[in-house]
Amino acid sequence: MKALVYQGPGQKDWVEKAKPGIEKPTDVIVKVTKTTICGTDLHILKGDVPAVIEGRVLGHEGVGIVEEVGGAVRNFKPGDAVLISCVTSCGACANCKRQLYAHCADGGWILGHLIDGTQAEYVRIPHGDNSLYPIAEGADEEALVMLSDIMPTGFEIGVLAGRVKPGDTIAIVGAGPIGMATLLTSQFYSPGRVIMIDMDANRLEVAKQFGATDVIQVGQEDSVARVMELTAGAGVDVAIEAVGVPATFDVCQKIVSAGGNIANVGVHGTSVELHIEDLWIKNINISMGLVNTNTTPMLMKTLQSGKVDPAKLVTHRFGLHDIMNAYEVFGNAAREKAMKVILSA
Ligand SMILES: NC(=O)c1ccc[n+]([C@@H]2O[C@H](COP(=O)([O-])OP(=O)(O)OC[C@H]3O[C@@H](n4cnc5c(N)ncnc54)[C@H](O)[C@@H]3O)[C@@H](O)[C@H]2O)c1
Ligand SMILES: [Zn+2]
Ligand SMILES: [Zn+2]
Repeated sequence: MKALVYQGPGQKDWVEKAKPGIEKPTDVIVKVTKTTICGTDLHILKGDVPAVIEGRVLGHEGVGIVEEVGGAVRNFKPGDAVLISCVTSCGACANCKRQLYAHCADGGWILGHLIDGTQAEYVRIPHGDNSLYPIAEGADEEALVMLSDIMPTGFEIGVLAGRVKPGDTIAIVGAGPIGMATLLTSQFYSPGRVIMIDMDANRLEVAKQFGATDVIQVGQEDSVARVMELTAGAGVDVAIEAVGVPATFDVCQKIVSAGGNIANVGVHGTSVELHIEDLWIKNINISMGLVNTNTTPMLMKTLQSGKVDPAKLVTHRFGLHDIMNAYEVFGNAAREKAMKVILSA
């Protein structure tokens, strides 16, 4: 089969690889029909995730058709259409039993990281019964690909951890796929005002179409001063960090109101300065974490009922064999006006 393989920092190639087979009775082999590229894949290619070894197949998102199941798999059979979760979970360990799937004793985020991933013609999914979800007949597969990672991430680590409530004023710093997924899923709780902050004018325009009430363009205006102006000096109830650099976490610390929440979603590679001398007196909560994907079944229902439409995040489409070009487009997102790219087998 063909697969997109990491070949060390800055290097990747679409190469011939052995087709994966069943290794444990709980494994499921899936023929990938649609996949995508995540900002995290770009981090890996930069060499930011040293646990990824040369030769690893990248990708942790996608949908497909079950090709083969191990002897212990009960929920799936060959021919079933499935959604692949970016987080693998056994369903039986202590952390899985409290829905902390990100910290499964025999799983977590391993796909396209510690084991071969979804940017390939076939992928082996460990603990298939818990790590795959059945797709209903006629479902929008492109929308479902957004449920592998970005929608649960924005919802769980941004909206739920940030405790967004009806009427709240919230700010989302970063209008990439994760910031946009946070914007879409925040609407389940009817926030009164959603302020989106980014330097990319195109992404801010898209954010307005998706329901942002105000946008602030970094570089053109002082984001902290503008948020304070928009909120009559009070700040925001929830400040959500969706970039992963110290500057944006700092903005969140400065714009959070008394009694508010800072929800950090971004993956950070360096330490940030925590201004506890200003924050202690403000009765705020700070949260951070890795997506558990425990909300995936709920998000599938909201998709099915039309309450949310993540398919609108898809800006570009390619054949799976054309993935090297897709990386070129996604890697130059601002120039290409790209948000999510879909690769179809
Ligand atoms: N916690 C989790 O489980 C989890 C899961 C997936 C992704 N992530 C992380 O979420 C973050 C966002 O992911 P993404 O795919 O949307 O990334 P992305 O790179 O596509 O988007 C980031 C956005 O931030 C903007 N930006 C950069 N610097 C900025 C600044 N100083 N001020 C305002 N905006 C700025 C960029 O223009 C871009 O639009 C990344 O750090 C990613 O690794 C976390
Ligand atoms: Zn991802
Ligand atoms: Zn587990």
